[in-house]
This record gives sequence, structure tokens and C-alpha cells, in this order.
Amino acid sequence: MNATGDAAGASARSTDAENPPVRRLADWDDAALAGLADEHGTPLYVLDLDRVRRNYRRFAAAFPDAAVHYAAKANTARPVLRTLEAEGAGVECASAGELERALDAGFPGERVHYTAVNPPAGDLDRAVELAAEHPELTITAGAEDTLDRLAERGYDGRLCLRVNPGVGAGHHEKVRTGADAKFGVPVERAADLLADAAETFDVVGVHAHAGSGISGDDLSAHRELVARMGDLARDAPVDLEFVDVGGGFGVPYAPDDPPLDLAAVADATREALGAVDADLVVEPGRYLVADAGVLLARVNTVKETPETTVVGVDAGMTTLARPALYDARHEVRTLGGGSADGRVEATVTGPICESADTFGEHALADPERGDVLAVGNAGAYGYEMASQYNSRPRPATVVVDGDRSAVARERETTADVVAGEREVNWL
Ligand code: LLP
Repeated sequence: MNATGDAAGASARSTDAENPPVRRLADWDDAALAGLADEHGTPLYVLDLDRVRRNYRRFAAAFPDAAVHYAAKANTARPVLRTLEAEGAGVECASAGELERALDAGFPGERVHYTAVNPPAGDLDRAVELAAEHPELTITAGAEDTLDRLAERGYDGRLCLRVNPGVGAGHHEKVRTGADAKFGVPVERAADLLADAAETFDVVGVHAHAGSGISGDDLSAHRELVARMGDLARDAPVDLEFVDVGGGFGVPYAPDDPPLDLAAVADATREALGAVDADLVVEPGRYLVADAGVLLARVNTVKETPETTVVGVDAGMTTLARPALYDARHEVRTLGGGSADGRVEATVTGPICESADTFGEHALADPERGDVLAVGNAGAYGYEMASQYNSRPRPATVVVDGDRSAVARERETTADVVAGEREVNWL
């Protein structure tokens, strides 16, 4: 924690011209996106690896003295993991599966943290096995009995304790983790548990996460969380290598929302943490990938009704769950809609038999069957939360980088949906 806020702020600001803090839906190249929709079909996720790289660089410049660990749950596409690994990022994994994929994508053990949330036995078995192969990786436990379960498996490696800081923040009540008893041990118990844990494990850090999608207006909760973590680190009965204050850095979803002022967040973080003899770790997920992705969907139905124009597209809540789950608002526009965009108030809906299956009201260019719509900020928690409900195969993902494009995940087929099914002979 040596760099001053000013130096960090200046370096973040100096990159603004060539690396703008937000990429709006309107900044994407319509013709290129339309070409990808024609070539690969829809629904289609498009991910721009160069934008992921730039987001990482901007973020890391704002936190020059911190280790930046990408929260892989936002998007585990292998090219995303590899791009961030090549940039020098660390990775935060939420399951044995993510751990496996991160190591396989090339993250060295010392940059890998596994945050075990109520971990199923199989996850702990696998994590302990992987830790034997990669002894530099860190396991974060958020319950006293997770420590016992790790010890039972013979684990004595690097351990971080997740605490419940008692303050939460985020874009929706369903993503405010910080004060939810499910996550972390009560902060009052943390010092005792750290001392106990140090008898068995190599205790290296403490962790907390306030929630997801924190905006500049929410900074008081972030500050409070970080201050509590600073106090905990100063009072800790063991020497800590790091204090991990989680992720949650928000992005603007509405076209006129301002981007997060990273320099201000970084300054607030340093100030709230105070002097600690440990490194800072931050875990952005959404910030690094949200505006690097769009979802393309084709219009298949246009229906005039007394209330609204219903525009049915081939993507729905199975493709992008956020609107149905969190009432999240993603910008939608017609590719090539040009000046006609904004003319018709339409309700954009998917093909799933649920009224929650809607992307909301959007002003579109005169909608016609065959139009391709782009849904913005779809790079974070889009494909990751896709499902096969209604026997809908999950969409394809294409990555682009400069002039290049490649399929990163093939479109599923009905054969993929039923691949695990077995005939039950007694029926
Ligand atoms: N660290 C931990 C321990 C987390 O649980 C999370 C997110 C992150 C970091 C990264 O948070 P981010 O920087 O991406 O906000 N599906 C929801 C978001 C759930 C986030 C869960 N944990 C959504 O689409 O809004």
C-alpha cells in the first residue's frame, strides 16, 4: 500500500483518451455485428477481447499497488480467461469447475483464489487435489466448518478467511452479499478463527465482498466494508499477506448513466483501508467484461396490440437471465436502425413461455421481421447464467479482436440438451 492516491488517479486519468471508461452500445460497429449474425446465426454473444484487455489495463492502472483478481463467474469463456491471464491478472473462482478451467487456461497457482461458498463435498475434494498440484493457490473459507472439512481432507496450505462485514451494496437486493449470513464468518469471530486456523493452515489473508454492481453513489458501503477490513487486518493475531475487499465495481447500463469514477473508488479504498502491512486484493468481474459483450437476436414476430408493439426475438430469459431475475435494464437497439431508431415504442420479448421473459420497453427503428437487435452490456453474467429451459439450446459465442473473429463456444443443438438422458426401461 505504498502508492499515493494522487499518483494512481493521475495514471488512470492519463489513459482516458485512448482507453475510454465506457463503451456504449452505439459505439459498436453495426455492419461488423450484422455480418457476424449472418455468418453464425442468432442468438449470438459477441465478445471483444481487446475491450476486455483495455478494461483490465484501466482498472489495474487505478489500483497500481493491488493484485487484481478477475471474478471468473462473470464470464468463463476460455479466450477471456486467457486474455486476462496474459495481462497478468489473477483469478477468483467460485467452484471446483471454475478452478479447473482457470488453471487449465494457464493461470499459475499463485494467482488463483478459490472462494468456497457453502462448498459441496466434491468441490472441496477437487480443490484440495488441485492445491496439491498447485500449492501456491489459495482457498478462501467462509464458515468455521469449512475449515474442519478442509483439515479432514489433509489440507494445510494457503488459507484466507472470508468474513461477513455486515454491510452490503449492489444494484439489486438479490446481489447484496455483504450483510447476508450465508457469506463469511461474523466479523466479531474472525480474530479467534484466524488464530485457530493458523494452527493447521498457512493463513495468508482475509476477504469480504459487499455485493455486485456498486455505483459511485453507493461508495459509503464500500468504504465502510474496507474500513472494517482494515481494522481486522491491524488486529489480526497472525501476519497477513493480503486483504481482499472483493469485487462489485459497477458499470453504466443506461445510455446516460455515468461510468464509475475508478480513481475516486481507488482513493476511497486506500483511504478507508488505512495503513496495513498487507497487500490489497480486488476482484472485479463485471467491470472487466460487461461492455466487452453484446447479445445479437433476430426479430421473428412483430405484433401490434392496443397496448404496445410486441417485438418477439429469438433470445430470451434462457439466453440472458438478468432482466427476468433482477429487473435489470439492458439497452437494446436495431442494427442499422440509424436515424429511425427511437421511432417505435416496443416491448421486446423472447420465445419462452413465461411473462418474465422480456427485455422491457425500447424505442426502436420501425421493427420488421428479420431485423437484428443488439443488447448491450451482455458480456458479464450473460452466457454464464444461460439455461436450457424450454429445451432451448444455449447460444454460440464469437470472440473478436481487431480484425479477427472466431467461434469460442459452439451453438448447442437439441442433441446437446438431451445428451445426458437415459432410457428408463420400466416405463
Ligand atoms: N468476488 C466475489 C466473492 C463475488 O461473489 C463476486 C460476485 C465478485 C467478486 C464479482 O462481482 P462483480 O465485480 O462482478 O460485481 N449475477 C449477478 C451478479 C452476481 C455476482 C456474484 N458475485 C448479476 O448479473 O448482476
